[in-house]
Amino acid sequence: MSNFVVVGAQWGDEGKGKIIDVLTRDADYVVRYQGGNNAGHTVVIGEETFILHLIPSGIFHRGKKCVIGNGVVVDPAILLEEIDHLRARNITVEGRLFVSDQAHVIFPYHKAMDKIKESRMGKGKIGTTGRGIGPCYVDKMGRCGIRFADIFDERLFEKKLKENLAEKNELFTKVYDYPPFSFDEVFKKYRGYASSLRQYSCNCSVLLNQAMSEGASILFEGAQGTMLDIDFGTYPFVTSSNSTAGGATIGCGIGPTKIDQVIGVVKAYTTRVGEGPFPTELAASDMEFLREKGREFGATTGRPRRCGWFDAVVVRYAAMVNGMNFVALTKLDVLDEMKKIQICVGYTIRGRRVDVIPSDIELLWEAQPVYEEMDGWLQDTSNVNSFDMLPGKCKEYLGRIEELVGVKISMISVGSERTQIFMVD
Ligand code: IMP
Repeated sequence: MSNFVVVGAQWGDEGKGKIIDVLTRDADYVVRYQGGNNAGHTVVIGEETFILHLIPSGIFHRGKKCVIGNGVVVDPAILLEEIDHLRARNITVEGRLFVSDQAHVIFPYHKAMDKIKESRMGKGKIGTTGRGIGPCYVDKMGRCGIRFADIFDERLFEKKLKENLAEKNELFTKVYDYPPFSFDEVFKKYRGYASSLRQYSCNCSVLLNQAMSEGASILFEGAQGTMLDIDFGTYPFVTSSNSTAGGATIGCGIGPTKIDQVIGVVKAYTTRVGEGPFPTELAASDMEFLREKGREFGATTGRPRRCGWFDAVVVRYAAMVNGMNFVALTKLDVLDEMKKIQICVGYTIRGRRVDVIPSDIELLWEAQPVYEEMDGWLQDTSNVNSFDMLPGKCKEYLGRIEELVGVKISMISVGSERTQIFMVD
């Protein structure tokens, strides 16, 4: 029995879905512990491409149990859509899908608030996914949020929704010049969701601890990435949850002693969606090749991802804050045609060499990458299925990454297909 946390080591979209899909074979449970439907995990199975935003991709493996933990914020309409989408493909979720009754629920006013706030921020906007994630977590921390357990209890839900709408509608109408939300409409819709979703509700902490005591293996599926973590990311250009490995413990009610391994998923280069500093970002014309070959378009919003060179400062930092045991490196094949490849080994900020991400966002905006140039391997790696088969120059690139990050690469992905992946050693 062993319990793994899989986290993104950059700004999300590292290809975690595929790594999780592979690791799920050895797990009994797959658990989401933070974020919401801002995430989007793409899994390619044969001719079909599946994108899941909320339900762990482990659902594609028959017999595996999938859990949405208390640390996740849940949009019930999206959850029901995903359940229907899976059913239409003969993937049953009954008895395999569990949602923590302590998870907070996303309401239409959260989504409206997300969009209003972004539009009022002008140039300083975060570039959120607009899914209401931030405002829902604001309510959670503000102790006025509505949890899954609450929507099942008619009287409690009525009271909480009335209190929330009384305050929020005042804000919408008086400050934001936005139409108020109707209590009756929201209440009726969410009671409908409650009756459809009640069967999946669980006490996630009890469920998982019980399973572990019976010898089950758990795979904790991180969403977003380390640099989007509310504490350790490029604040305020971050998401509103702890996407780092530590989030797994509080996001589903298990103790830190239960985690055996942390696997950091690392793309062979770097991408970012949304606003915020990105030191190794390429000029628009130079990033086009990576974007097209790597199909770098957001799985949730379809936005083109910003692309840049591998940033060892970011990944080394991610290795530290997550306590990463291994790296799973993805999208190596995307670099196959590059004659020269740059690796950022440090930054120059205001004339000084810096090797750690500065917490002061102004300094990070000014960071100039210090690059090491390596020769590309100019060979197709998409059919490679062992480390030995990789071109020499490619091995050198991977070796340099390991050296700079200080963590072994244990798994390499060379394409989107389930089969295009191999273990190292
Ligand atoms: P939010 O999570 O929608 O509030 O967005 C906050 C920031 O996180 C924005 O820059 C988003 O683009 C980014 N973000 C949120 N979820 C993901 C993800 O799954 N992948 C990559 N970026 C994400």
